[in-house]
Amino acid sequence: MKSTNLVAGFYDCFMGLLDLLLGINKWRARLWSEVEGPRILDAGAGTGLNIPYYRPGWLVVVLDRSELFLKRARIRAEKVDIDMEFIIGDVKELPFDDRTFDSVVATFLLCQLDNPLQALAEIYRVLKPGGRLLLLEHVRSKKHWGRFMDYLSGPVYRLFGDNIAGDPVILAKKCGFTYMKTENFLLDVIKFIKIKKDEIQ
Ligand SMILES: C[S@@+](CC[C@H](N)C(=O)[O-])C[C@H]1O[C@@H](n2cnc3c(N)ncnc32)[C@H](O)[C@@H]1O
Repeated sequence: MKSTNLVAGFYDCFMGLLDLLLGINKWRARLWSEVEGPRILDAGAGTGLNIPYYRPGWLVVVLDRSELFLKRARIRAEKVDIDMEFIIGDVKELPFDDRTFDSVVATFLLCQLDNPLQALAEIYRVLKPGGRLLLLEHVRSKKHWGRFMDYLSGPVYRLFGDNIAGDPVILAKKCGFTYMKTENFLLDVIKFIKIKKDEIQ
């Protein structure tokens, strides 16, 4: 039990350090300012670092495949008065009906998945028509160092389980999403990506 808490604690310390260096929490605030409720899915919510940005009146489903990370998210949730439901689950096989959510948020999730296309297809299914998917993600650069990222992506994925050369917009379009806009947060590598499921299905 202690070692599992250590992993979640280490993750929070690591993200805290990144926040000090890069201002990640400002990026989270920007993303959450575009979220529309009332039914939200925070997919791959981890230790609940997005919880401070949830708003009263929402029902947020906090989903992650890791029980130990969700345990920490539950502790974080005690500090706020928002309706939340915690679910241990796989974003590639979401346990929800079609057209359930107004918005789905995924922060630093897709880079961790072996099959992000399957996850995006599931997210598309559970979003209501007109619903939005909001991503905070590191992606393949379109500048010359993008090729360098391609070379490194295989070894980095094998070592750390993190895909550094993904392009969520291309994958999302394959699933039927309409691309809305991107804001660069760090060079053109860490981005806020806003994507929509069209009203007419
Ligand atoms: C880098 S962390 C990001 C956590 C959180 N969204 C944040 O911004 O701090 C990635 C999270 O995705 C979760 N995850 C990875 N694969 C998943 C899957 N297939 N289904 C659900 N969660 C998954 C991990 O357990 C981890 O908590």
